[in-house]
Amino acid sequence: MRKPIIAGNWKMNKTPAEAEALVNELKPLVKDAACDVVVCVPAVDFAAVKGAIEGSNIHLGAQNVHFAASGAYTGELSADMLKAAGVEYVIIGHSERRQYFGETDKTVNQRVRAAVAAGLKVILCVGENKEEREASYTDALVEYQTLIALNGLTEAEVADVIIAYEPVWAIGTGLTATDEQANETIGVIRKAVARKYGSDIGDKIRIQYGGSMNPKNVKGLMAQPEIDGGLIGGASLKAPDFSLVVNYDK
Ligand code: PGA
Repeated sequence: MRKPIIAGNWKMNKTPAEAEALVNELKPLVKDAACDVVVCVPAVDFAAVKGAIEGSNIHLGAQNVHFAASGAYTGELSADMLKAAGVEYVIIGHSERRQYFGETDKTVNQRVRAAVAAGLKVILCVGENKEEREASYTDALVEYQTLIALNGLTEAEVADVIIAYEPVWAIGTGLTATDEQANETIGVIRKAVARKYGSDIGDKIRIQYGGSMNPKNVKGLMAQPEIDGGLIGGASLKAPDFSLVVNYDK
């Protein structure tokens, strides 16, 4: 059985003081969660959030990582730096990174490898845009994005990666994939992993849905057999909303 994992992606929101207040409000609300709970926060908030989550069941995540160990990469952070700051999880290949910051499948793969080598748990984002879905490219595209991003990892390393299937047209738009659409595409991703790495790994790997997931639609999505959790943007910025998503089974 795969343990569900619900992660908040705060994106470019919350100062350290605001971050600390949000986590302090969240802690009692999610303390009995049956799933893994993660908050992926801006780097300036690592210290505040790390302090605030101590002794709780909330885990700290980052929103990106560079592939080099160190060097002349202005504005970037290495995997070792994240580890040293107490980060456990890292989102890689989010569609906003791909769209606005020139992230490619190749750099996503490099970042995944560096993160895994440093012992970080990766949340790898894949997903199609509206034109790609309308042209029926979704399955081919998510398979390609997934396999190229995992290239070079061992089977055991692949099994520990968390994949977030996020249709780009559903992110921040209020549009959600239907429960069936999300389940079907996640099934396609799982089969692609199983074909390449074996059915054990396909059965083990956790695949989240992301894209306007919220307290209202979480139950239907989580009832789908292929969906192992969620990557939550907007609804992760308010403790009551995020806790309702985390406690979808209560
Ligand atoms: P959203 O964002 O929940 O605001 O649509 C999800 C994401 O981009 O990870």
